[in-house]
Amino acid sequence: MKPLYNFDSLKIDRTMAPSDGMVATALEEQYFDLGRRALELIQFSAELCDKPHYPAILDLPCGHGRVLRWLRAHYPYAKITACDLDRDGVDFCARQFGAEPVYSELNLHELPFAAQFDLIWVGSLVTHLNEERWRQTLDCLVKWTKECGVIVFSTQGRTVTSLLARGRRNIAENIDKATLLEDFARTGFGYQRYTECGPGEDYGFTATSPEWLMRTLQRYPDVILRSYLEEAWGMQDIVILYKKAGHFEPVLGVPEMQVVRANAGAAKRGWLGRLLGR
Ligand SMILES: C[S@@+](CC[C@H](N)C(=O)[O-])C[C@H]1O[C@@H](n2cnc3c(N)ncnc32)[C@H](O)[C@@H]1O
Repeated sequence: MKPLYNFDSLKIDRTMAPSDGMVATALEEQYFDLGRRALELIQFSAELCDKPHYPAILDLPCGHGRVLRWLRAHYPYAKITACDLDRDGVDFCARQFGAEPVYSELNLHELPFAAQFDLIWVGSLVTHLNEERWRQTLDCLVKWTKECGVIVFSTQGRTVTSLLARGRRNIAENIDKATLLEDFARTGFGYQRYTECGPGEDYGFTATSPEWLMRTLQRYPDVILRSYLEEAWGMQDIVILYKKAGHFEPVLGVPEMQVVRANAGAAKRGWLGRLLGR
């Protein structure tokens, strides 16, 4: 995909933390390209959602500022909250880019945020979570976004799974790829723990199909899907959501409701009748 905007004149702080795990030796330029690309997608979200300003921004997970440094340069006035389980990354973002530091929790519901952010950027978090934590994360993101605020997050969809299915090496070598692909094909959601995870740990590789994502979004009548861009951030897809209370009626139902309908048609007709005032 060609660049969406030209940020050549933007002066970013190129200081890198020695412990930044997102940069590979001799691939520093790719690190900066992906940061700039994230900013392009955020600028795209601003245009789609008519948001000339993002005064309060959450970068979750911030890592060591691969994207946050671009956000700081483009939105110098913004209060940017840097949140991650990696405390060294949070401290670095606070020190280097003037972000508000918040150490994260495994269970995001424990974080002290309210509906306070104009923009939440989530680069490569749900790409590592099991289905329950994936859904909990989306619940939190929606809850923490202001009315008329925007959420931009990345997923792994058909691009990554196609590469795995074609036998491409050096991607997700530490998971059971066959099971992941089978689950993805059957349900639209595949998750496999990394083999190096300890007994109490649950962190891995997640793939979600566009269809699964759309179905999941039907649970949120307060959220408008503004864009789903396949392969927009490296190999990852990008989802842009806009929060608008009560925008949709649940006329299509949500997956659980369809199960109810299959099992109890009469009760379900009652639900729809009530919605239509009959
Ligand atoms: C692939 S890295 C992406 C980091 C950053 N977004 C970037 O693009 O450079 C995934 C990050 O998710 C963080 N993480 C995992 N679970 C988290 C949680 N519950 N809360 C906050 N961060 C979490 C990890 O510590 C790690 O920094």
